[in-house]
Amino acid sequence: MQDRIRHPALRQRITSADQAAALIEDGMTVGMSGFTRAGDAKAVPAALARRAKQAPLHIGLMTGASLGHDTDRLLTEAGVLSRRLPFQTDPTLRRAINHGDVAYVDHHLSDTAEQLRAGHLPAVDLAIIEAAAITESGAIVPTMSVGNSAAFAQQARQIVIELNTSVPAAIEGLHDIYVPGARPHRGPIDLCSVSQRIGGHAISVDPSRIAAIVMTDQPDSPSNALPPDADTQLIAGHINDFLLNEVRRGRLQRSLLPLQAGIGTIANAVLHGFVDSPFENLTMYSEVLQDSAIELLDLGKLGFASASSITVSASVHQRILDRIEHYRERIVLRPQEISNAPELVRRLGIVAINTALEFDLYGNVNSTHVSGTQMMNGIGGSGDFARNAHLAIFVSKSIAKGGDISSVVPMVSHVDHTEHDVDVLVTEVGLADLRGLAPRERARAVIENCVHSSYRDALRDYFNRACLRGGQTPHVLEEAFSWHQRQRDTGSMLEGARALLVA
Ligand code: COA
Repeated sequence: MQDRIRHPALRQRITSADQAAALIEDGMTVGMSGFTRAGDAKAVPAALARRAKQAPLHIGLMTGASLGHDTDRLLTEAGVLSRRLPFQTDPTLRRAINHGDVAYVDHHLSDTAEQLRAGHLPAVDLAIIEAAAITESGAIVPTMSVGNSAAFAQQARQIVIELNTSVPAAIEGLHDIYVPGARPHRGPIDLCSVSQRIGGHAISVDPSRIAAIVMTDQPDSPSNALPPDADTQLIAGHINDFLLNEVRRGRLQRSLLPLQAGIGTIANAVLHGFVDSPFENLTMYSEVLQDSAIELLDLGKLGFASASSITVSASVHQRILDRIEHYRERIVLRPQEISNAPELVRRLGIVAINTALEFDLYGNVNSTHVSGTQMMNGIGGSGDFARNAHLAIFVSKSIAKGGDISSVVPMVSHVDHTEHDVDVLVTEVGLADLRGLAPRERARAVIENCVHSSYRDALRDYFNRACLRGGQTPHVLEEAFSWHQRQRDTGSMLEGARALLVA
């Protein structure tokens, strides 16, 4: 205990999860640690859900990103969440959001801390932060993510610490906690390489605000990303070929530029594709490290990785904890306003690879809304990276739901990334390099390289008829969403609602 809580007076504040949850009052804004299932508060939110079933209460909940341990489900089922931001991936919460029961604010992940400091969001009343240790001065050593924990802890009137002993105390030193100064005289974020450290090892707080410490030993929920399949391997192959060509043309070196890869199955599989690539001495400046990043580190392909969280399978999680001193030299975890800082993404020249739900023939990307209305997860960090990247690459399988949905459509039903922010689009069919192309040229590149054969003629026909009407970005407006409408009405975007035989 003495090496976990090094501030002696704070050892008196150890309490149960139920007692800590009793500090949360109806109407409060609560900030919780947790980023893509890593480093999330576990015991206190579960206790809060139990309590709310007896005595209903509502809170606004902010986190770094998505949570593990079914926390969003438990809180939704207990009716606790009135407002939620900035990101989620839970099916039960997703239903409540789309039903209009929970007000969901879908943020660029770098921006939540800025908006809190600016007073654009309700101030955090109480922060619940998972920690591996508390230092002599009362500073908080995070676990497998940093997320927004520094911003929450610095603003909250009261702080609850979940001290998780399943994470070795030797994790101290993995994190780099830097919080930008106040405006209008803020200086630049002085970071010029992915491995540079510019802050402290722990989150400094006034220890008098630490109201309770709850002991836990539950590991993070494992990642739910699926392994690579034939389509994602093809996507990875197209990206490898494209980047190799960039090297041959002298536009990139064999070490490329720092890589960023988004969340989920496709991004994990695409990064896995670098295992068999000719690239060496790679680096990552990303927000989340999945299994594929750790595999690249272990193989020596990846020299160093900077992120805000480590979200991996159970076996990889254990491997990291068992050799934490080894990984501490090769990984740094930062607050998400630094891992995703547009200033740094532009300076470092990131090669950003993110996943689209759908994109259109001009290169606008929808990452968030199914059929333009139903929230899937959220924009996450994809906008932070794509707009400012050296190369903004978006990937998607060309079809979804057994072929009933084409991921390439005449006009996206919701826009997260405009054509101005998108350089390269990739499906298993091929890759469209849109750099320097005007809209009509972009459309031809997308149609010939990215569209599934079942939809290609229909999209070509749409484009040709649109061109007859003219315009810089031609459309047949009354037909622009006809594919989505057909899918709504018949279950398939295919004309005649034929079921597609996908080999
Ligand atoms: N319309 C409807 N559903 C679609 C679809 C479309 N155009 N395209 C994909 N889907 C469905 C899939 O069928 C799948 O459904 P299922 O869960 O019922 O099987 C689901 O969306 C996930 O798609 P999948 O192909 O498994 O990809 P993924 O796990 O890589 O997730 C995103 C893809 C877009 C949902 C995910 O990457 C995301 O939320 N991105 C936004 C946030 C982001 O980019 N963050 C990056 C910074 S870390």
